[in-house]
Amino acid sequence: MDVINTGVIGLGMGRGHARGFDACPDARVAVLCDSDEQRLAEESEKYPDALTCSDYRQMLEMEDLDAVAVALPNYLHAPVTLDLLRAGKHVLCEKPMAMNSGEAEAMKAEAEACNRILMMHFNMRFMSTAATLRPLVEAGEFGKIYHITTTYTRRNGYPHPGSWFGQRAKSGGGPLIDLGVHRLDLALWLMDYPPPASVLGCNYDLLAKEKMADFDFDCEDFSAALIRFEDGSSMYMASSWDGHQRRESEITMNIYGDRASAFERNGELTLCADDAEEPSVRRLGAEEPQETSQQHFIRTIRNGAEPGPSAAHGVTVMRLLDAIYESARTGREVRL
Ligand SMILES: NC(=O)c1ccc[n+]([C@@H]2O[C@H](COP(=O)([O-])OP(=O)(O)OC[C@H]3O[C@@H](n4cnc5c(N)ncnc54)[C@H](O)[C@@H]3O)[C@@H](O)[C@H]2O)c1
Repeated sequence: MDVINTGVIGLGMGRGHARGFDACPDARVAVLCDSDEQRLAEESEKYPDALTCSDYRQMLEMEDLDAVAVALPNYLHAPVTLDLLRAGKHVLCEKPMAMNSGEAEAMKAEAEACNRILMMHFNMRFMSTAATLRPLVEAGEFGKIYHITTTYTRRNGYPHPGSWFGQRAKSGGGPLIDLGVHRLDLALWLMDYPPPASVLGCNYDLLAKEKMADFDFDCEDFSAALIRFEDGSSMYMASSWDGHQRRESEITMNIYGDRASAFERNGELTLCADDAEEPSVRRLGAEEPQETSQQHFIRTIRNGAEPGPSAAHGVTVMRLLDAIYESARTGREVRL
């Protein structure tokens, strides 16, 4: 495999995947696919050597096509990924992995059966906050991490009102499955993915009821969850598409360890430890990520290695998302 031939299905977020593959010296954008002819035509102008198709099933027949990024509406992630794996393609799948954990498990099993790489596009792992925090975790700076609080909340940030995003049958849910999924993966990764034990979730749609009344919309607009892990550690996570807050978007991560804690707010990081009389407070500069998600995907294909954001991690995240939705619906704690 000299150059890895890549394809992209879905040219909204998929445009970023095409850019990412194009920037890999040992990969090329070979095929672009979108059912929207205008989007397809616009994007293909940037990659004049790439083939185009409006039906992804044409890609299944392309023997030289090695790997595909799936950036379709959430309800299409599982069926399209399964078809691609069975056709021998490696897959980089957008978040959320699927509509529910049953679909996610089937995708993971198919990747194993077909001996293909299935990587999740948990791209927050490839951003500067993660590049700063993860080495601190690995160096043992925090000691034992016993709690993380993480949030991703927006003010009036409904994605494309009227689109599939707000329709549960196509999206699987609202901000929890759309934004919370990112924070859940990042926090779990910083905690080394401890096995979850139980979940308590609360979802609300008080603001959306009024603002989205003219649209086909049946998702939550705010979600909060408390997760307990088998090793006794815990996580609180909140996500929203709407709420009364100052900034359009707030992203936070507070890590509590028995040696030190870190506080992140919109990319600004502080590390605190109380080992002297006065607490020591260090502002952290942002580290440059070492690779992009697409570079990582291409590298794992070459090495035959398990990708960092693995299918197993995707399944764990989906199980937690299912449990938060169930707990919010039933009003009860869900044991995993
Ligand atoms: N990782 C991130 O930061 C991030 C950011 C945005 C979106 N996403 C994810 O990317 C996915 C797509 O989101 P988006 O914002 O690009 O949505 P979008 O609706 O803007 O784009 C989806 C594209 O898929 C095309 N499409 C739909 N059905 C198709 C089919 N059967 N065959 C071929 N093309 C088809 C549509 O024409 C559209 O161009 C979602 O899963 C979303 O969660 C991830």
